[in-house]
Amino acid sequence: MCGIVAYIGNREAYPIVMKGLRRLEYRGYDSAGIALIDKELLVYKCKGKVDDLEYFIGTQNTLGNIGIGHTRWATHGVPNDVNAHPHYSQAKDLTIIHNGIIENYNAIKKALTLRGHTFTSDTDTEVLIHLIEDIRNNAKVDLVEAVRLALNEAVGAYAIVILSKDNPNQLIAARKSSPLVIGIGVDEFFCASDATPIIEYTKNVVYLNDEEIAVINRGEELKIITTKNIAKTPYVQELELNIEAIEKGGYEHFMLKEIFEQPRSIRDSIRGRVLVDQGLIKLGGITEYSQKIVNAKRIIIIGCGTSWHAGLVGEYLIEDLARIPVEVEYASEFRYRNPIINEDDVVIAISQSGETADTLAAIELAKSKGALVYGICNVAGSSIARTTHAGSYTHAGPEIGVASTKAFTAQVAILTAFALSVAKQRGTINESRYQQLLIELDTVPELVEKVLLQSDKTKAIAAIMKDAPNSLYLGRGYSFPVALEGALKLKEISYIHAEGYPAAEMKHGPIALIDEEMPVVVIATKGANYEKVVSNIQEVKARKGIIIAVVTEGDEHAALLADYIIEIPESDECLVPIISVVPLQLLSYYIAVMRGCNVDQPRNLAKSVTVE
Ligand code: M6R
Repeated sequence: MCGIVAYIGNREAYPIVMKGLRRLEYRGYDSAGIALIDKELLVYKCKGKVDDLEYFIGTQNTLGNIGIGHTRWATHGVPNDVNAHPHYSQAKDLTIIHNGIIENYNAIKKALTLRGHTFTSDTDTEVLIHLIEDIRNNAKVDLVEAVRLALNEAVGAYAIVILSKDNPNQLIAARKSSPLVIGIGVDEFFCASDATPIIEYTKNVVYLNDEEIAVINRGEELKIITTKNIAKTPYVQELELNIEAIEKGGYEHFMLKEIFEQPRSIRDSIRGRVLVDQGLIKLGGITEYSQKIVNAKRIIIIGCGTSWHAGLVGEYLIEDLARIPVEVEYASEFRYRNPIINEDDVVIAISQSGETADTLAAIELAKSKGALVYGICNVAGSSIARTTHAGSYTHAGPEIGVASTKAFTAQVAILTAFALSVAKQRGTINESRYQQLLIELDTVPELVEKVLLQSDKTKAIAAIMKDAPNSLYLGRGYSFPVALEGALKLKEISYIHAEGYPAAEMKHGPIALIDEEMPVVVIATKGANYEKVVSNIQEVKARKGIIIAVVTEGDEHAALLADYIIEIPESDECLVPIISVVPLQLLSYYIAVMRGCNVDQPRNLAKSVTVE
């Protein structure tokens, strides 16, 4: 979603802010803008991409060593030049960039209008900067105090940075429910909505907490106060990110790079946790709570999109291995449906970004009812990682492509380790199966590597599917969530309508769609439901659907039935999702490329969904 970047120091701000905006492009946006101070307050903004902004700025003045930049993902008001950030105050001496939503902006706008303010945009952000200006002028306070008082009036979420024409030596930043990180260099500071624009300049960062305001004065130490006016000591952390991780490294797209990184990212996610030599699993982040988890009456898994799909695999794993009842919920539904949450429930919150607004709100709800919340996140220091009681990082590395790939397999790897560990402690798995699964889980990265070697075959199948307007993805048991994930990957990056279904449900409706034009992707690997899935394939075949089957290596029976097959190496059924999803990711990728789609930044989508 929206991206923020800001700089104050001795260098020219423009190239740093523009480069930062490009680093944030992956978050998804529809307009961009920048403000600089070179005696005058210079604001340039337009609809479109950062390239469009650069073209629009052309040879205009871009001097100054203080600047703020923004990529906007429209919420209030259509994507156009006027609604793009930064926004001016009434007197045009202040300007603001903002991520999040000010929910009571309408009431504030009405009150300000009565006091003579006029607004040029449809945004809530413009209202906020006018409110700050109004307070500063009428309460006769300095800008920092005006920001503090205004934020006490604002309801909603924000990460903001403010620039004042009259003070080219100061940036004011603040956050609530929307991330903001401050990079500390030598005589310079950076602000950004995530660390990617900062990493090439400094590894020392401060993550602002909710309701904190950072006062960043040139040549001074960083100062932080809360919106209640309590001074805080900045907690400086060292970033573990490196610059290679956020560049394409020779791949045409981030998504392809991230798909091919999976042998490494899965390995990193289980390293130090799945200890084959010692025959045990160690999830350090939950040791303190292991009794509560082992004795849980119920586990509720919450997430959105791909993370929700990982949660579904988690449900199969935990119920199958550890025999604890599991419910998997869309965070967005869970938070609003007055769910029954007990103190002996354990809630697992899954999120790649760690910033998804619905998941965060669902976590707060679960915490307020006394449940233990265990987070599985990819982004270190993210809001979800910080707000959960216990957690495991997935260590997949930065995921830049909007379509989640390596985060999913890492999440499922952690859930597998979790289920196995709880099963062992509860005595619901016998020792030899436990040890066998440990060994097999440890070899999954190599099996994924084998699947990736067949990418050309998947590409050839993509050429067959690329012009289909619709497609169906079917799976049963552990492969049902994989079918959902395969369909989501296809629709989000290629814009082909795709539906994932439990294979047996097909006859209750979707079978009506099948004809000789309809590609049906079936995950038909060996396992408990194999024969049943083969019957489902027969049903598709009888209606002349085009069958693309993901099968276990050497399965000649399924190969004879299907029109096209993708083979994956044999493994225990409960480990198949991590492996079988990989060819589906590749299939979507190649189809999207063949259709000329913007794979890494699909239309309308944002990487980090920080609004509900
Ligand atoms: O960062 P999160 O895992 O919380 O994000 C959840 C979804 O927004 C995300 O998985 C989304 O569905 C992706 N575009 C899927 O590829």
